[in-house]
Amino acid sequence: MRHISSLGTFISQSLKHFIKVGSFLPSSVFLARRMAKRATGPIVVELGPGTGVVTKEILRVLPSNGTLICIESNAVFADHLKRNICDERVTIYEGDASMLNDFLKKKGIQKVSCVISGLPLGNFKKNLKRNILEKISDCLENDGVFMQFEYLLAGMAAVKEVFPLVSLEYEFLNIPPAFVMKCRKVLK
Ligand SMILES: C[S@@+](CC[C@H](N)C(=O)[O-])C[C@H]1O[C@@H](n2cnc3c(N)ncnc32)[C@H](O)[C@@H]1O
Repeated sequence: MRHISSLGTFISQSLKHFIKVGSFLPSSVFLARRMAKRATGPIVVELGPGTGVVTKEILRVLPSNGTLICIESNAVFADHLKRNICDERVTIYEGDASMLNDFLKKKGIQKVSCVISGLPLGNFKKNLKRNILEKISDCLENDGVFMQFEYLLAGMAAVKEVFPLVSLEYEFLNIPPAFVMKCRKVLK
């Protein structure tokens, strides 16, 4: 029943706010696993968790003493996550990904090992996209990894401006199939 209620919540929000949600369906478990495989901790951030399909896969690979910070701007999704993800490693914030620094500060965190994003970057205005990508880079440890999925690579040029070192994977088993960008931080 939980799967059905997650799916219904996702579809109803995507019909109401398609530009912000960015897809009609949540990610498949195959895409979610691909996105989560670097989330081995100790501190992971997830941007745009939606109804939590990737969140659950992150929690499978995160060590028992790890920390996961989720930031979701849609109030219905944030509430859904708070009700359905009961794990002491997770903190769920309702808010905008551009406030990443503020949320980390609240938790007393300066640097994180991995940022996993399902944000629909291709739908964002140029300045917002740049702002969020720079904040992701600033909060990553030197050997940190940033994972982002996209269906059409509409945000890839912007990602490459901040993260020139991008490697691409493709997940067929998703509707629609998706690219996964794995980005390494460039030391300044
Ligand atoms: C394509 S959905 C991905 C949902 C989930 N990660 C998945 O893979 O099924 C994009 C998510 O990003 C959220 N989102 C969009 N803009 C955001 C922003 N500026 N800050 C935080 N979350 C945002 C949407 O509400 C939605 O939950």
